[in-house]
Amino acid sequence: MNNVTDYNNQTITRGDLKYQGKAKSVYWTSQADILWLHDTNQATALNGKVHENISDKGRLNSAISYLLFKHLHQHGVATHYLKHISETDELVEKLDIIPVEVVVRNFASGHFVSRFGVASMTELTPIVQEFYYKSDALDDPFINDSQLIALHYATAEEIKSLRLKSAEINDILRRRFAEINIELIDFKLEFGRRADGNMILADELSPDNMRLVDKTSGQSLDKDIFRQHKGDLTVGYREVLQRLEKLEK
Ligand code: C5P
Repeated sequence: MNNVTDYNNQTITRGDLKYQGKAKSVYWTSQADILWLHDTNQATALNGKVHENISDKGRLNSAISYLLFKHLHQHGVATHYLKHISETDELVEKLDIIPVEVVVRNFASGHFVSRFGVASMTELTPIVQEFYYKSDALDDPFINDSQLIALHYATAEEIKSLRLKSAEINDILRRRFAEINIELIDFKLEFGRRADGNMILADELSPDNMRLVDKTSGQSLDKDIFRQHKGDLTVGYREVLQRLEKLEK
């Protein structure tokens, strides 16, 4: 892998490892406000308790994320994404990450089904938005608005903004996937603050973090293939990428 790239007419060099995530390595760069992400081939489930190396997964995630972030930018959504550098690497803006996972659900699936005992794929109207405190040690517990505020993880104003932004992103992505006959069931987002306090979208947008099903066959095209031992995960991811790429032509 090349350790140098350019961005805005400046040479950016990859630095030390900042953080080793479950499916991603995060590096410092020669620019204090830019990070270098590398998508690995690791697939994890049950908060990292199950993991496996899956050839080509990093490239597929990186390519899908790039196309979805590009689409959000075209719709005026501010995000941390700066540049797709290579098949498995991207530059992003360094943010002060808010330790909250925002889950948006259009249909009941996963933990929503096990928690509330409703039938899988029940349409949720209005959409459901949930917050989880990002902590591997605590297994990402559910957290509510007053807990977020009392613990100073987010202000009331930021929580309002998390709801508005995640609903807007849901509308845009849901429509995009509908164009390629895919239903966006649910997904997870993360946000961070810029130096000026402005909150923007961070993290990644890939089938590792969203449930996607083919609208005709109902077949899973996301990490549920791995979670539920339904076969080769890359078949689903490749299908998502191929359909998204067709929209670019
Ligand atoms: O497991 P659960 O049903 O709560 O997941 C809802 C959505 O959020 C799924 O699309 C899942 O992939 C995503 N998620 C995630 N990372 C987590 C928890 C959930 O990407 N730590």
